[in-house]
Amino acid sequence: MKCSCHVMFLRYSPVLLFLIFIISSNIKGETGTLTKKNVLIRPFNNTISAIFVFGDSTVDPGNNNCRPTVTKSNFPPYGRDFVNHIPTGRFTNGRLVTDMTASYIGLKEFVPPYLDPILSLEELMTGVSFASGGSGLDPLTAQISGVIPLEQQLEYFKEYKIRVENEIGEEKTKLLISKAMFLISAGTNDFVINYFNTHLRRHSNTLLDYQQFLLQLTQQFLKDLMTEGARVIGIVGLPPMGCLPVVITMKTAGSPLQPRQCIDSYSEVGKEYNQLLQNMLKNMNTYDTKIIYADIYSPLYDMVQNPNKYGFNNVYSGCCGTGLFELALLCNPNSLVCINASEYIFWDAVHPTQATYYNLFNSLRPTVDVMLKL
Ligand SMILES: *[C@@H]1O[C@H](CO)[C@@H](O)[C@H](O)[C@H]1NC(C)=O
Ligand SMILES: *[C@@H]1O[C@H](CO)[C@@H](O)[C@H](O)[C@H]1NC(C)=O
Repeated sequence: MKCSCHVMFLRYSPVLLFLIFIISSNIKGETGTLTKKNVLIRPFNNTISAIFVFGDSTVDPGNNNCRPTVTKSNFPPYGRDFVNHIPTGRFTNGRLVTDMTASYIGLKEFVPPYLDPILSLEELMTGVSFASGGSGLDPLTAQISGVIPLEQQLEYFKEYKIRVENEIGEEKTKLLISKAMFLISAGTNDFVINYFNTHLRRHSNTLLDYQQFLLQLTQQFLKDLMTEGARVIGIVGLPPMGCLPVVITMKTAGSPLQPRQCIDSYSEVGKEYNQLLQNMLKNMNTYDTKIIYADIYSPLYDMVQNPNKYGFNNVYSGCCGTGLFELALLCNPNSLVCINASEYIFWDAVHPTQATYYNLFNSLRPTVDVMLKL
């Protein structure tokens, strides 16, 4: 069978395929602020043409579906609260912040994965995600999980440009890119999967060395994007990594009776990194290009500290399985799943629920507004 990002469903009959086609063409318009048919409201009358996304599972809508990796999520219970409960390959129960952002800008309801083989020209032109679950800023991180490194994501973007140029010409493509919003979300895996979890980098790098190394890679990636024509770039910092259920489990494995709580030393690394990143970005804005830092640390930490304020009653474990360690293939149709994911900060042992993503989106909205007004 030819690989497809809808691989879960292609195993079934043409009738079902047809139904899925109908369903996906109906997805538009089910949510969001529609005025008339398929016309979304554009805050500040923005003229953003498209959204292009790079990074890890926090922004991957299904690029890993066709890859030979275990870092996948295109099966239930993932997508349980997505339109028609489709497990698209998003690592959560519903939509991602990037979907909400595209919808808010007035582009479309969902940012599709670039590797989806059946993207229309309109989908391509309004933006895609190149992100890959398990990836990081450090190419070695993607290698550990057999997923798509940022460098390769950039190569896909170059390929994307050629595809679109062939359809609408070079000038129009250039204009499209110059009016697009670029978003980058990566870095957590470099610490959680790579640095803290293996000796590959740790044996020859101090933590500060490694943070500097990641910053250099970030800077190079931003420069590469600028070379490719990016003019508005948003980059999110690290979350409080010590609050991820899997990190808590890793650190308390030897003493299961210890109460679950955030591992502050891990979170501190993220906080420190975010400060270094912001310092670096200050020197990177040019007349042509604006790079905006987006803070996810504070809002996520606030959710963990004040769960009731947000309707959460489960903080330190995910909704899927025991919530202590399951993610990707370990969170699967055989897992017990909580009844109401909106009561949980985390969907699996690493990834936030849609409810958390929605709160994050709300806190990021002023930052998005800044980008819309540039
Ligand atoms: C957006 O454009 C409409 C129509 O041109 C105008 O009435 C409205 O004031 C504009 N809104 C903003 C926020 O600029
Ligand atoms: C699920 O939980 C959320 C957040 O606590 C709550 O607002 C909602 O009413 C719950 N839904 C159901 C069906 O109980």
